Amino acid sequence: MSNSLSQVDLIREAFHYQSRFEGSTMVFKIDFPVTDDPGFPFLVKDLALLAQTGFRVVIVPGAKEWIDAVLAEYGIISAYAEADSSPFHRSTRITTACAMPFVEMAAFHVAARFMTGLAGSRVDAVIGNFVRARGLGVVNGQDLEHTGTVEKILADSLNKTLSQGMVPILPCIGYSPAGKPYNVPSDEIALAVSAALGAVKLFIVSLNGGLGAGTYTFPENLETGDDGRILRLTPQEAEAVLAANSGLVKGAAGGSAAFGSLANELRPLQELNLALRASRAGVERVHIIDGREEGAILRELFSNLGSGTMLYADKYESIRALRSRDIPDILRLMDPLMQQGILIRRTAEQILEKKADFAVFEIDEQIHACGALHEWGEGQAEIAAIATDPLYGDMGLGRRIVDYLIDRAKKKGIARVFVLTTQTQDWFEFLGFREVSVKSLPEKKQKIYDRSRRSKVFALQLTGE
Ligand SMILES: CC(C)(COP(=O)(O)OP(=O)(O)OC[C@H]1O[C@@H](n2cnc3c(N)ncnc32)[C@H](O)[C@@H]1OP(=O)(O)O)[C@@H](O)C(=O)NCCC(=O)NCCS
Repeated sequence: MSNSLSQVDLIREAFHYQSRFEGSTMVFKIDFPVTDDPGFPFLVKDLALLAQTGFRVVIVPGAKEWIDAVLAEYGIISAYAEADSSPFHRSTRITTACAMPFVEMAAFHVAARFMTGLAGSRVDAVIGNFVRARGLGVVNGQDLEHTGTVEKILADSLNKTLSQGMVPILPCIGYSPAGKPYNVPSDEIALAVSAALGAVKLFIVSLNGGLGAGTYTFPENLETGDDGRILRLTPQEAEAVLAANSGLVKGAAGGSAAFGSLANELRPLQELNLALRASRAGVERVHIIDGREEGAILRELFSNLGSGTMLYADKYESIRALRSRDIPDILRLMDPLMQQGILIRRTAEQILEKKADFAVFEIDEQIHACGALHEWGEGQAEIAAIATDPLYGDMGLGRRIVDYLIDRAKKKGIARVFVLTTQTQDWFEFLGFREVSVKSLPEKKQKIYDRSRRSKVFALQLTGE
């Protein structure tokens, strides 16, 4: 009985996550050794299942080990030795003109393994030239030749591919506008594509499965599992882990703290660094998982039983309380809206008087959105003065401010939040608010309700009625 109940719970949980993430973009950066693992066909089946269920799946295959093997097989590595040079400059691969065709061959071979697996599950996939690249040039007197970096992700082409239900596969090769191929680290591609497509999740799938205790120094208070692995951490905590272990990285990278092709035991730190950068680029959650574990992606996605390390950005990170000196900035945001009658008129003094009610969204020390929560008693509070900088419209700022104010209301034990609006009802409905009558407002608010404005009242119930 309890077993069947837990199964039902699991199914419920899966439906919950499925409806939450349907239609959202997820990027999977999958290292080569996983591609070569006997469990790989199951992993590809799971990716196919996600694509068939309506997730926008993007695959970035890592090919480092296979490239190394191909270069060794075709005598390219020994050619470096004969020329008394190294295939790496510090931790960056030097891709010579002679090595490039073999690097391309290896990269496309690995990408084709995903294509084959997806075809077997009746999912269409495209290996494409979605990465515009440029060469790294000469670094510290060393010409890196065909080693490049991402200049731009061709997001329009990727979006077209995704909207047709296809899975784009991005091998570690990018092209200059003149058509010259470059070998680009798959970490860079995964990062750039996650940012360009606004991915909600990035999965880093390797043989490591996150950061375990033992090899590394962990700051105190991190949430760890029975096996000592870090279960979840914030970007600030990830920074602390990287700082605590920077000596290891510096030693391996020849004195610089840069990450590149580091020794295997340092790969988990390199992965954490990638996760941190992705989180800074706006990816809400980054999961580092072990690709050999059957169903690891599904478990991480559809349940609370994740088996790797998750880095989660605080979605309210950029939101803070209003300071007096911000008032001119929020008036600048609200002024055109007050003039159009979309927001009610407020003076600097009135805002100052209610300063504690306001919250602002700040990016690079500039305020781009604001909002307020005014308490009216009777268990009700009003969400008001919501305004987003038009240059930053449709980026989720308005929604995050409203979510933040709703969270604030919940913490204060408010039962219902409401909003008075003349022109933005559709948006509030989209956020889950429903129209209610003026009579349902707290008495104090009803008394000052301006009937001439004919604002509609929308409310969101936070606790059971
Ligand atoms: C309404 C407002 C706050 C939305 O801010 P935002 O940061 O652009 O919104 P988000 O990015 O969170 O949400 C964007 C979504 O809402 C939709 N949207 C934006 N304004 C809308 C409106 N007035 N009515 C209906 N939908 C709207 C967008 O089309 C977008 O939908 P999509 O994701 O399907 O493309 C902003 O347009 C604004 O400042 N409006 C004027 C002030 C106002 O009306 N305030 C509310 C009264 S208190």
